[in-house]
Amino acid sequence: MNGQFSDQLLAWFESCGRHNLPWQQEPEPYHVWLSEIMLQQTQVATVIPYYNRFLQRFPTIKLLADADIDDVLSHWAGLGYYARGRNLHRAAKMICDDYSGDLPANKEQLLTLPGIGRSTAGAIMALAFKQHDAILDGNVKRVLCRFYAVNGWPGQPAVEKRLWQLAEGLTPEINVAHYTQAIMDLGATVCTRSKPQCDICPVASECLARKQESQDKYPGRKPKKTIPLRETVFLLLENRKGEILFEKRPATGIWGGLWCFPECSPDDDIEEWLLAKTGFSASIIKKLSIIKHRLTHFRMEILPVHLKVKQCNNVKAMGEQQWCASGDALKFGVPAPVRNLLLTMSE
Ligand code: ADE
Repeated sequence: MNGQFSDQLLAWFESCGRHNLPWQQEPEPYHVWLSEIMLQQTQVATVIPYYNRFLQRFPTIKLLADADIDDVLSHWAGLGYYARGRNLHRAAKMICDDYSGDLPANKEQLLTLPGIGRSTAGAIMALAFKQHDAILDGNVKRVLCRFYAVNGWPGQPAVEKRLWQLAEGLTPEINVAHYTQAIMDLGATVCTRSKPQCDICPVASECLARKQESQDKYPGRKPKKTIPLRETVFLLLENRKGEILFEKRPATGIWGGLWCFPECSPDDDIEEWLLAKTGFSASIIKKLSIIKHRLTHFRMEILPVHLKVKQCNNVKAMGEQQWCASGDALKFGVPAPVRNLLLTMSE
């Protein structure tokens, strides 16, 4: 049965799989690693231009390791989940220090690098080093949950453990790179979350979910919990030269290391808060429309407020700050809502 699954998948992959993705062209370990990190939470079509720009700027692990973190994050800006960019940079330094700049072809060593978990390590072993190893990303979880009618939410440890056993059992000894790409492609293009195309699926005849006509029951849903709301105010403080004040956020926490506007709470009196915290006396020009932004663990409602500095006596620095023309700020690593605001301001 296992051999049959991989044979059918491999035959399908030859004619229907994706063979022209940029990281498949010269599958050197750095390219595979970078693409797998970018693809962890982002779809292929979004990743491709970021991947190309990133490699153009940082063509080798050594050049990435030697780069400034701000430069790295500015090439990540817009992809989200910035911890991925920071981990990539830290891992590049470790690879240069400990492995002479080459990604190790060893799973245990890969797993010690920040940002590389079990599935990403498996993908690198299979795709870059052609070694027998299993993967279990979101697409593969969906394929296996349906094929074996595995009940429960894949994030539950017991369900995940079962899925790893199945994934390992199905992964063939030979042709492991093609098989790995094939099962990801099947999940991404045929066994999709909604409206799976079972009529063109190479393994449909043995798929238990299909036999039960209950494809949409798998994978089981995550138990619902309400995501908390965080309300905040972005202070777009403009000086006489038309520049805006930016602050670099602390390395950890939301948008760590990125450049943002000073922020206060909706409960604060904005002008008083600014005077007390920064020493700037400023007046509100305009309150802009609220921006809704969704992150993994909470939702945000951001009120952007445009202010003009009247006086700047007793200015107090709060961490790293910089005045900058709004167009120039786009060159820094800024989170998506800041970027969108800057784009509308420079329109
Ligand atoms: N998602 C994760 N890895 C991938 C890959 N190598 N190709 C396409 N989608 C992916």
